[in-house]
Amino acid sequence: MSAEGMSAAAPLIAARDLVLDFHVKSAFGAAHGLRALDDVSLDVRPGEIVGLVGESGSGKTTLGKAILGAHRPGAGRILYRGTDIAALDGAGRRPFRREMQMVFQDPLSSFNPRFTIASSLALPLRLHRICPEDAIPATVAALLQRVGLRPEHAARYPHELSGGQLQRIAIARAISVTPSLIVADEAVSKLDVSVRAQVLNLLNRMNRETGVSLIFITHDLGVARFLCHRIAVMYFGRIVEIGPTAEIFANPRHPYTRSLLDARHGGSGHVATDADETALSIVDPARACNYAARCARRAPECLTARPRLDFDAAGHAAACFAPLPPASGESVT
Ligand SMILES: Nc1ncnc2c1ncn2[C@@H]1O[C@H](COP(=O)(O)OP(=O)(O)OP(=O)(O)O)[C@@H](O)[C@H]1O
Ligand code: SF4
Ligand SMILES: [Mg+2]
Repeated sequence: MSAEGMSAAAPLIAARDLVLDFHVKSAFGAAHGLRALDDVSLDVRPGEIVGLVGESGSGKTTLGKAILGAHRPGAGRILYRGTDIAALDGAGRRPFRREMQMVFQDPLSSFNPRFTIASSLALPLRLHRICPEDAIPATVAALLQRVGLRPEHAARYPHELSGGQLQRIAIARAISVTPSLIVADEAVSKLDVSVRAQVLNLLNRMNRETGVSLIFITHDLGVARFLCHRIAVMYFGRIVEIGPTAEIFANPRHPYTRSLLDARHGGSGHVATDADETALSIVDPARACNYAARCARRAPECLTARPRLDFDAAGHAAACFAPLPPASGESVT
């Protein structure tokens, strides 16, 4: 089946075969390449919320930033409504900038501390000529109201607001330019649990009201389950499993996804021993499953070929030669 299985709507974003290397220096000064994205393909449909989950360093932020144009992939294509935006230079990319916005993890550092909220919200309105100059104050007030804040918050400075309030304003700033995609990178991780639910509800409401698509990056599978229509699980620069949220939880097929779900309950999942991991660390990731060193289901072929995502009719795929059998139908809680 095609890259994303049964897709009803034409994708808004179709990332294809992305490869992205960072050049890093070792402690002794020698430069080497670090493959942060290794043959990644991902579709995001209009109005869809796609979750990116996976452990630290798996490439979630890099993928989000590559789609936004903040990192340039070394290979592959990023089609935005059919146009390859990965191939564009800064000037060519400009018309697409308004369409894709980002909400960051730390709300305080994403605002200029010397600007009032009104000034911060006015900047993108002016930059993208969203409304006439004399309509900016009323537009700012309406934006604040839309995210559950009051007009008087406009006169405050970032340090005079709570993390939850600032994250609402960051969302207001993102939606103010009517984007078609928002990349939210750990956007609720720094918030208290009580406030987290409110901000998630706000993102959910913005998605339903405006039809904006979201790439929602998170460590928290529970949060991803609440918000996302589909979930992509990343491991060391690759998407190892992707599918509708309910399918991922009820029927995880990749051993790594299973271990992530088990870890939520203190279990060790399908993880091999440390000794296995050390012995296998010399396996060439270009020609093997990248999870082989940790996988208790490993077979000889896992060390000599790369498993590919193979989509079923429900749009669920796991990159694994020996995927876990379908579960009993009981969802993993
Ligand atoms: N600017 C950079 N320069 C060099 N290496 C980088 C850079 N940004 C990320 N990396 C490396 O690329 C890999 C992927 O990083 P990335 O930030 O995308 O992971 P992540 O999944 O977002 O992790 P986290 O959950 O910790 O945010 C990591 O090994 C990281 O160290
Ligand atoms: S391909 Fe092999 S090593 Fe990789 S996850 Fe599947 S069973 Fe484990
Ligand atoms: Mg990150």
